[in-house]
Formats: sequence, structure tokens, C-alpha cells
Amino acid sequence: MKKQLTDMHLKDKRVLMRCDFNVPLDKDLNITDDIRIKSALRSINYVLENGGSLILMSHLGRPKGEARQEYSLKPVAKRLADLLEKEIVFADYDEVVNEKVKALADRLIPGEVMLLQNTRFRKEETKNDLDFSKELASLADVFINDAFGTAHRAHSSNVGVTQYLPSAVGFLIGKEIEAIGGALSNPKRPLTAILGGAKVSDKIGVIENLLGIADYILVGGGMAFTFVKAQGYPVGKSLLEADKVELAKALLVKAKEKGVEMLLPMDYKVAKEFKDTDQYEVVDWKEIPEDAMGLDIGKATIESFSEVIKNSKTVIWNGPMGVFEFENFAEGTNEIAKTLAKEDVISIIGGGDSAAAVEKAGLAELMTHISTGGGASLKYMEGKLLPGIEAIEDK
Ligand code: 3PG
Repeated sequence: MKKQLTDMHLKDKRVLMRCDFNVPLDKDLNITDDIRIKSALRSINYVLENGGSLILMSHLGRPKGEARQEYSLKPVAKRLADLLEKEIVFADYDEVVNEKVKALADRLIPGEVMLLQNTRFRKEETKNDLDFSKELASLADVFINDAFGTAHRAHSSNVGVTQYLPSAVGFLIGKEIEAIGGALSNPKRPLTAILGGAKVSDKIGVIENLLGIADYILVGGGMAFTFVKAQGYPVGKSLLEADKVELAKALLVKAKEKGVEMLLPMDYKVAKEFKDTDQYEVVDWKEIPEDAMGLDIGKATIESFSEVIKNSKTVIWNGPMGVFEFENFAEGTNEIAKTLAKEDVISIIGGGDSAAAVEKAGLAELMTHISTGGGASLKYMEGKLLPGIEAIEDK
């Protein structure tokens, strides 16, 4: 087990904490979803209540080593101050660490909070450059990693930095490990995985890992059409990864061998064009017309998937069932979310699109766990070790 925040002495210590404040912004740089900031508050408050001061750091977007103002953490500093109901020092320096930032860090007293500028303003960050890690570490006495969303990256601010400071994971990482790790390693059965999203290629690792763990795998979203093709039926103009058809065949065979029930949609809502139109029809999965594309699962599929969910004890969901951004094709995703919310199952929602869909449906509060990591939760579900977590010392 990794060292936890609660294992560290924090009184009078300066605590460097890596968070994932990579939040979506609109064109006027307003934060449109602050769940990642709110999710960091528990660890932040714990440090402050235990007599430490905080130096927070994060990336935002992919500025590729340039100090681009549209990627400034300034909006985050403001929202954080509002949520914490206290002033925070925003060290708005493009170099992230410099002599002025060091002086600001030195002056922090217990209970005070400072936020560094976007760590990706430095090109060294994504190379896990140790000199940059050392600069960051020089600001503090202790390092806490609570950035689950970035745990699949090995960067200076989450991996390299652990070489220079006593380190532990925060409450958010602890919660994600408990929820996702627990569902994968010791699930209440039956365990069902619902997988969707556009591409099979994004989910191959997850399917392969889950074939050794899950009792049921339900496949929806754009990726299902490659499985339709693999069984010899037409997909019309639907999304298709032609180079993955053989792989889809192999996965179906493997599921049979392993005794995992892999269920594919029985019907689809199809339309002639990729747009939010009410000019759609519902067709059997074997009869997708040549000039149409599947944009959602149909009612028969919703019923059969819902039946499996009702009979499950744990459900892991990653990827929407259709183009949920279009009102006419959001029904499949929404109905699956409603069933998950209603039934007495442990529901673990992967970050990214599935989390967004559940939020949009207003059902987030009713799920057991919604991951704050898109890529990170996917990697975790693939059974991979996450470098940001691995770098922390064991207890
Ligand atoms: C995410 O949003 O998935 C994380 O913040 C990681 O961002 P990245 O894919 O740019 O590394």
C-alpha cells in the first residue's frame, strides 16, 4: 500500500501538492465544470487543518512548453479562493519556479495557500526532467500527489519530484484506487462492464483485461459496428475500424472461451447524416441500410442491457452508448445512466465522456463513484500500473 496523506507530519511544513486542475474553459476563460477542483478540497483542507501551508501545482491543457495565457491557471486560482473562502497567492510567473516564487514560498505561514502557474509552461515538465522536479521540490518539505487524472503520465511534477521529497498520495487518489481498483480486484459479482465510445482501438486494452475479470461485457457506441462487421453483417455509413475487424472477431472468440457473456446491441437508431435530426429509424442490428449510420442503440438493446444491469452487483461503465451530445441520440446513454442510478448496484463511472454524460443527465449524485480521470481511469481499467501512483513510496 502507498503512503497516505494521513501518514505524513504536516505541522509547520510546506506541502507541495500536485492536483489535476485541468478543467474545461469556455472561450471567455470561464470554468465550465469545476468537479476536479472540488475533488481536491478534501486533501487541501486536511493539510491546512493539520498545521501545514500549501503550494499547489497543476497543468491545464497542452501548451507544449510555452507560456500561453489561454492556458493560465488564473481562473482556477479564483475558483479555488471562492471554494476555500480564503485568499490564495497566485504565483503568476511563466517560469513556474523562479527566485520570486521561492521567496513567496518561504514567506508562507501555516494555513496559507499558494498556486503555481501551469507546470506545462515549462517544456521540461512532460519530459519528466529531473532538474525541473528539483526546482519544484526546493519550494517545500513534503510532496503529496492527488492528481489522479494525470497519474498515467510520468512528468516532472508528479513522478520526478518524488525523488527529492518525502511523498504520499492524497485522498482523491486513495478514493479512486479504492473504487476502481476494488471493483477490478475484488468485485461483488456479477460484475458487468459497459463499454462504448467511438473506437474499438481505444478500448482494446480494457476489453482484454476485463475478459479475465468481468461476468458480462456490454458493448455500445461507435465501437460496436466493428463487431457487427466482424460477424459478417453490413454497417452502412456507421463508424468502422476496418483494420480492427479481425481483432473484434478474436475478442468474440476469446469471450466465449472464457465464459464471459459479451452482449452487442440488437437494434440501432440510424440516420442518413451525422447530425441531430429526428429523421431517424430504428433497425435490427443485422439490417443497417447502406446509406445510413448508427447513432444510438435502440429500445430493445436498452431493455436487454438494463436487464443485465439489474442482475449485476457491480457495474463499470466507460464510454457513451451513442452520440449523446445530440438530443435525438442521447436516449441510449441516458436510459443506461438512469438504470444504473435506480438499481441497487455499485456503479463506477470512468472519467471523460461517460462522466460528462452522467453529469448531463443530472444523475451524478446517484452513482457510487465517478472518476476524475479520463485517460487515467482507462489505463487503470486496462490493468496497467499508473506511474504517478507507482512513484510514491510503499508504507
Ligand atoms: C486529463 O484531462 O485526462 C488529464 O488532465 C491529463 O491530460 P493530458 O491528456 O493532456 O495529459
